[in-house]
Amino acid sequence: MFHHVEPYAGDPILSLNEAFGKDPRTDKINLSIGIYFDDQGKIPMLASVRRAELKVVEHAGARPYLPMEGAANFRHEVQTLLFGANNPALQSGRVVTIQTVGSSGGLKVGADFIKRYFPGSEVLVSDPTWDNHRAVFEGAGLTVTTYPYYDAATGGLRFDAMLAALSLAAKHSVVLLHACCHNPTGVDLTKEQWQQLLPVLQERELIPFLDLAYQGYGDGLYEDTFALRMLADSGISFLAVNSFSKNMGLYGERCGGLTIVCPDAAQAVNVLGQLKANVRRNYSNPPLHGGQIVAFLLGDPAIRTQWETEVDEMRARIKAMRTQLHAVLSAKLPGRDFSYFLSQRGMFSYTGLSPEQCERLKNEFGVYILRSGRLCVAGLNSSNVEATAVAIAAVLT
Ligand code: LMR
Repeated sequence: MFHHVEPYAGDPILSLNEAFGKDPRTDKINLSIGIYFDDQGKIPMLASVRRAELKVVEHAGARPYLPMEGAANFRHEVQTLLFGANNPALQSGRVVTIQTVGSSGGLKVGADFIKRYFPGSEVLVSDPTWDNHRAVFEGAGLTVTTYPYYDAATGGLRFDAMLAALSLAAKHSVVLLHACCHNPTGVDLTKEQWQQLLPVLQERELIPFLDLAYQGYGDGLYEDTFALRMLADSGISFLAVNSFSKNMGLYGERCGGLTIVCPDAAQAVNVLGQLKANVRRNYSNPPLHGGQIVAFLLGDPAIRTQWETEVDEMRARIKAMRTQLHAVLSAKLPGRDFSYFLSQRGMFSYTGLSPEQCERLKNEFGVYILRSGRLCVAGLNSSNVEATAVAIAAVLT
C-alpha cells in the first residue's frame, strides 16, 4: 500500500540534535538546536515557572476542552505582554489573539488564513531564515521566495538591498520578519531601520508577518516588541506569532500565540471567527496545562517580576558567552575579525563556516553546529567555551 511513500530526509535542526544525543563522546558540545542551556549545560526549570505551575496544579479542577481560540486569560496576557495594557490598538478592539500549539502552530494557522483570503500572495522570507519557515508556508500551499538580508562580507544586514527588493514586491505579498534575535543569523534591524521599512510596507500594501520566538533575548521583554508596537501604532494590519518556549523554558508544552492586528473591531470579529475555523480544521483546540502556567505567571505581579529577572539573567549569560568566545578566538587567530559575535544578538550567531568546516567541527571535535554555520550561543558555558573556540580556530586554519 505505501511503496510510493518516499523516505523523509529529516529536519536539519531536529535531526542534528538527535544525532548529538546518540553521540557517545562525553566531551561533545551541543550548539545546534535553539534551546537555552544554563552554565551547567542543563535546560533550566525557571523558579518563576515552577511557582506558577504549582499554583496552577493547586487550583486544577476538571479538564474540559478549551475553546478553539484557547483560554481567555492566556490570550489577554499575551496581548498585554506584546503591546502593553493601555495600547490604543488593544483598546479599540482591533487586535485578535489565539492560543496556538507553539509559535509554529501559530505560523501554520496564519499561513492557512493567508492562503484562504490572499490566495495569490507570495510569502517573502529573509535570506536566510529559520529552515522551517519555508516548509510551513509551502505546506499551506503558498509560494515562498526570499528577500536579501544577511551580508556574508560584514556579518551584518543588507538593509538597502532588503528595502529595494521589498519596494518591488507585488501588492499584498506577505513579508515574514523576525521581530528580534533573527534566526539563524542574529542580525536584527535597528529601530531606525524598522522606521525606514514602515513606509515601504505601507506603500506596497504588504502584509507583515512577524515571528517573535525570542522575546527577552535581544534587549529586553519590552524592548523586543518594538516592531509590533510600531506597526500597531501606524495603523497597518499585520500578523504576529510569539512563543514561550525560550523565554519561559516551556519548549515541550507548546505555548504560543497568533495575533492579527486588524483595521477595525468589526473586521477583527470575522478574522477571529476564521482563525477559530482554521484551528478546528487543524487540531480542534489547544492544550490546557502549559498555557495556564503562562497565564498564571503573567497575571501574578510577584511571580512575573521574578520571571523578568530570570529572563534578564539568561540574556546576560548569553552576552557573556559572546564576549568570551570572541575574546578566545581573537587571541587564537589575531588577524581575523570575530566582532560579529558581539554585534549579533539573541541565541544565534552566523559564523560563516562552510558546511565542510561544520562537519569537521562535529566529527573531529564533537562540536555540533548547523551545516549553515549557525551556532547556538545559548549552548555555550564556562566549561565548554574554550574548547569550542579551540575547535573553531582549528577548522579555520
Ligand atoms: C531552532 O531554530 O533551533 C529552534 O527554533 C528549534 C526548532 O524547532 O527548530
